[in-house]
Amino acid sequence: MTKICFKEHDGTEHVVDAKDGESVMRIAIENGVPGLQAECGGNLSCSTCHGYLEQKFYDLLPKPDENEEMLLDGTIDPEPTSRLTCQIIVTPELDGMVVRWPESQY
Ligand code: FES
Repeated sequence: MTKICFKEHDGTEHVVDAKDGESVMRIAIENGVPGLQAECGGNLSCSTCHGYLEQKFYDLLPKPDENEEMLLDGTIDPEPTSRLTCQIIVTPELDGMVVRWPESQY
């Protein structure tokens, strides 16, 4: 099972088992992880599932598409490794990935 660590802005960590094929956002919601809202349910229209990845895992993933880039530009505090977690599908290669949440999703 792929393990993903979600890190709140205050450093609190939540390590969860992630089912392959699910979105990272869905895994966080299903496990009651605080720090995201995911208001649009993964339809790429809200950006409240914004998280920061480690460079290593960011580089493993396909690049964000134009719509995701546009939404990321509108987040409060984007970083070079920012992603919308509803657009990341869990695969075994993501085992050990840490996703940090921003201080605020708004
Ligand atoms: Fe809305 Fe990801 S949940 S963009």
